[in-house]
Amino acid sequence: MNQKIVIINGPNLNLLGHREPDIYGDQNFESYLSQLQALYPNVALSFFQSNIEGEIIDQLQAVGFDCDGIILNAAAYTHTSVGIGDAVRAISTPVVEVHLSNTLSREEFRHHSFIAPHAKGVIIGFGLLSYELALRSFISE
Ligand code: DQA
Repeated sequence: MNQKIVIINGPNLNLLGHREPDIYGDQNFESYLSQLQALYPNVALSFFQSNIEGEIIDQLQAVGFDCDGIILNAAAYTHTSVGIGDAVRAISTPVVEVHLSNTLSREEFRHHSFIAPHAKGVIIGFGLLSYELALRSFISE
């Protein structure tokens, strides 16, 4: 059976590949997504990115009652957004929070997540592999 998994990326992640490559790597997300889709042909993967907090909330509400899993990297909003945390809590689809970098080894303000208490789980620090690990957590169910 095809599972429907949605990846949602937050602010500045559209710059992956260019932005601070020493922290976030040198691959852009679109090319990684093609690789991931090829590795998991039986998963219906879709992808949404926005730099705007309200658009991320709208997307969580739009997909969060009928897909099988959401992989969410809310980027900087992770550490600031009560609204995104509330949206994750409000929807019925399980959410796995991911980060490319190990946020706990970085500045203190990155240590807190408004999403983690409402997430099924959290995967941090494995670069783009964090997304595949999150995906595997859904398909191994
Ligand atoms: C990030 C970590 C956040 O602290 C940061 O604001 C990002 C990216 C990550 O994937 O490592 O933009 O979510």
